[in-house]
Amino acid sequence: MARSAIVTGGAGFIGSHVVDALLADGYRVTVVDDLSTGDARRVADEADLRELDIVDRPALEAVVTEVRPQAIFHLAAQASVVASVEDPRRDCEVNVVGTLNVVDVAGGVGAPVVFTSTGGALYGDAAPMPTSEDQIPAPLSPYGASKWAAEAYVNTWSLSSGVPHAVCRLGNVYGPRQSPHGEAGVVAIFTHHLHTGQAPKLYGQGKPTRDYVYVADVVSALLAAAGKAGTYNIATSVETDVSTIWRELSSAAGKDIEPELADLRPGELQHSRLDITRAERELGWRPQVPISEGLHLTYEALVEEFDQG
Ligand SMILES: NC(=O)c1ccc[n+]([C@@H]2O[C@H](COP(=O)([O-])OP(=O)(O)OC[C@H]3O[C@@H](n4cnc5c(N)ncnc54)[C@H](O)[C@@H]3O)[C@@H](O)[C@H]2O)c1
Repeated sequence: MARSAIVTGGAGFIGSHVVDALLADGYRVTVVDDLSTGDARRVADEADLRELDIVDRPALEAVVTEVRPQAIFHLAAQASVVASVEDPRRDCEVNVVGTLNVVDVAGGVGAPVVFTSTGGALYGDAAPMPTSEDQIPAPLSPYGASKWAAEAYVNTWSLSSGVPHAVCRLGNVYGPRQSPHGEAGVVAIFTHHLHTGQAPKLYGQGKPTRDYVYVADVVSALLAAAGKAGTYNIATSVETDVSTIWRELSSAAGKDIEPELADLRPGELQHSRLDITRAERELGWRPQVPISEGLHLTYEALVEEFDQG
């Protein structure tokens, strides 16, 4: 019988790519998603979509007990920093209680969990760069705090249940299917501006840097982390500033629009670059897609998606 996997948040940007990779690997895939920010149209027809809230433990347990997966990729989250500030209680419920539910019911069927945490929102501004996993987190938002708390449950349950769970701290992920309507996701936002001929705002005068990682590289890291117990930065260890992202995408678009320069928004990091040597060593993983190639691929794919509505 085919191996099976559950992807929570499988109707989301990154989760839907994980679903596709697992299907291509021959897995039977069940998606658990409440469609709060996800879209059922992103879920491949071959996957089984169960619409439920991970905070609802009995509903989650019923699906996990029925499917008895060989692995659970846990991506469902309240993933907006702004929403976490507006409603920290809901952020905590989904990210902390929801994650506790996932690792708890996973233990019942002996399934390892791969949890997606954040490298960007966890370490804060004072961390040395490239930032390693050993750096003590200093989150600036409720979202960073809830992801950190969730990590603690994942690690504790890994130790106490004997089922190896992994924490993957993602850099700034970009790629096809990313929504241009969130507050983050600068690549999707800029692509949308270029496509519709509008000038974007470059916060921090275009100087803030991030560690951007292409979604296909994130997917291969998450698959490699299944069955490992540990915490891994998943990024590229390359710092790129916002102006460069705008320039590269403008070149992909063949357009020349003058951006507006603005000050950094409160709570935003100046710089971020993650140390990925642990993931390279322990997962045998390495990012394959350089930023300029990834930006061109993303531009093409997103424009097609925008045109299809
Ligand atoms: N995109 C990034 O750059 C980035 C960076 C670091 C970490 N992450 C993490 O990666 C994961 C996926 O992020 P994404 O960018 O694909 O976001 P996304 O919003 O596209 O995906 C999240 C998915 O989870 C679902 N969901 C939300 N709350 C739920 C709930 N209570 N029950 C069931 N499903 C629920 C949503 O409907 C959505 O489909 C998240 O855990 C996020 O925190 C993302």
